[in-house]
Amino acid sequence: MKVLVTGGAGYIGSHTTLRLLQAGYDVVVLDNLVNSSRESVLRVEHLTGRPVDFRKLDLLDARGVDQLLAEGGFEAVIHFAGLKAVAESVEKPLRYYENNIVGTLNLLNAMEAHAVRQLVFSSSATVYGASGEMPLIEKAPLDATNPYGRTKEQIEDILSDLCAADHRWSIALLRYFNPVGAHESGIIGEDPSGTPNNLLPFIAQVAVGRREKVIVFGNDYATDDGTGVRDYIHVMDLAAGHLAALGHLADKNGVFRWNLGTGQGSSVLEVIETFGLVVGKPIPFQFAARRSGDAAISYADPSAALADLGWSAHRDLRQMCEDHWRWQRKNPLGYES
Ligand code: NAD
Ligand code: UD1
Repeated sequence: MKVLVTGGAGYIGSHTTLRLLQAGYDVVVLDNLVNSSRESVLRVEHLTGRPVDFRKLDLLDARGVDQLLAEGGFEAVIHFAGLKAVAESVEKPLRYYENNIVGTLNLLNAMEAHAVRQLVFSSSATVYGASGEMPLIEKAPLDATNPYGRTKEQIEDILSDLCAADHRWSIALLRYFNPVGAHESGIIGEDPSGTPNNLLPFIAQVAVGRREKVIVFGNDYATDDGTGVRDYIHVMDLAAGHLAALGHLADKNGVFRWNLGTGQGSSVLEVIETFGLVVGKPIPFQFAARRSGDAAISYADPSAALADLGWSAHRDLRQMCEDHWRWQRKNPLGYES
C-alpha cells in the first residue's frame, strides 16, 4: 500500500515514516524542507533498509501537488506539513494562514481530483484553548488562542465539511498533546532551528552545553509545584497512533477525532528533574514570568483512541527523556552534527 506523507522530513513525520516502512507500506515523502533537512529521510532509509521516494515540493505549488497525485497508486495521505511556531504565527499570521490552510486546500483538491480520499491530519491539543476542563475529551469546546492554533481549528472545520458533503471521504483528526523523545536508536530526532520554543528540546540543549540554563515560565500556577503541567507523549507512541488511525480509515467513512496523549500530566519541574536523572547531573534552571498564552494544565483523556483504535501510549516520562537525550548526545548540533 502506497502512502503519501506530507512533511515527512520533519520531526513527527520522519518517525512515522520509519514505522510505516517497518510495517510494509511504500512511502512517498513530500516536503519543502522549510523546517527540516533531507538528512532525516536518508537516516530513516538507513534505519529501515528500505527506500523512501522523496519529493522536494511545496504544498503551495498546486500544480506540482496535482502532478504528484496524478502519478497514481496512492491509497492514503498523512498530512504533517505545516508551520508550527506559535509566537511566529502571531507576528506573521498571513504566512501561517497561507501555508497551512492554502497548502491543505491544494492537497485536498489534488486528492479529490485523483480519487484519494483517506487522510490522517496532524491537529493539536492547542485547538482546545487554555481554559478547558481536564482531562480534555474530544467533545470539549474548541477555542484556539493564536493564529497557529486557529489554522488547525479551521482545517478541522474544512475537513468536517468535506466529509459531510461527500461520504466517500475518511478523515482522522489527530489531536497531539506534547510530542517529545526520539527513536530509540538516537539516529533520528527533533532538530529545531534557532532557539527551541518547546521545553524538552530546550532542556536537552542545556544538558549538552549549548545553553546555560532552562528558563521556567511561571512558578505561580495553581498546580502542585506551581509550574505548568502538560501531557508529554513519546514520538514513537504518536507514530504508532498514525498507523492505527490509517488502519481504521481503510474500511470506514466519515470524520473521526482522537486525542493522542498519555492521560498523565507532568510539571515543568518534574520534566527537568527526570531529564537530570537521565543525564546524571542536575539541569540548571531559573524561574521567570509566565509565558503569555500558556495554560496552567493540559492533559488528554485518550480513552476514545483506545476504544476505537486499540491504541494507547506505552512509554513513560523517563523513557521519553532517555531517548531524547540519546539523540541529543549523539547529535549535539542536530542533523548538522
Ligand atoms: P516539523 O516542522 O518538524 O515538520 C513539519 C514539516 O512540514 C517540515 O519538514 C517542513 O519542512 C514541512 N512543511 C511546512 N510547510 C510546508 C509546505 N508548504 N510544503 C511542504 N512542506 C512543508 O513539525 P512536527 O513537530 O513534525 O509537526 C508535524 C505536524 O504536527 C505539524 O502540522 C504540526 O503543526 C503538528 N503538531 C506538532 C506538535 C509538536 O509539538 N511538534 C504538536 C501538535 C501538532
Ligand atoms: C506549545 C504551543 C502549542 C503547540 C505545542 C507543540 C504555546 C502557547 N503553545 O505548547 O500551541 O501545539 O507547543 O508545539 O506556545 N516551558 C518553560 N520553559 C521553556 C519552554 C516551555 O517553562 O523554555 C513550559 C511552558 O510554560 C509549558 C511547558 O513548559 O508549561 C511546555 O511548553 P511547550 O513545550 O512550549 O509546549 P506547550 O506550551 O504545551
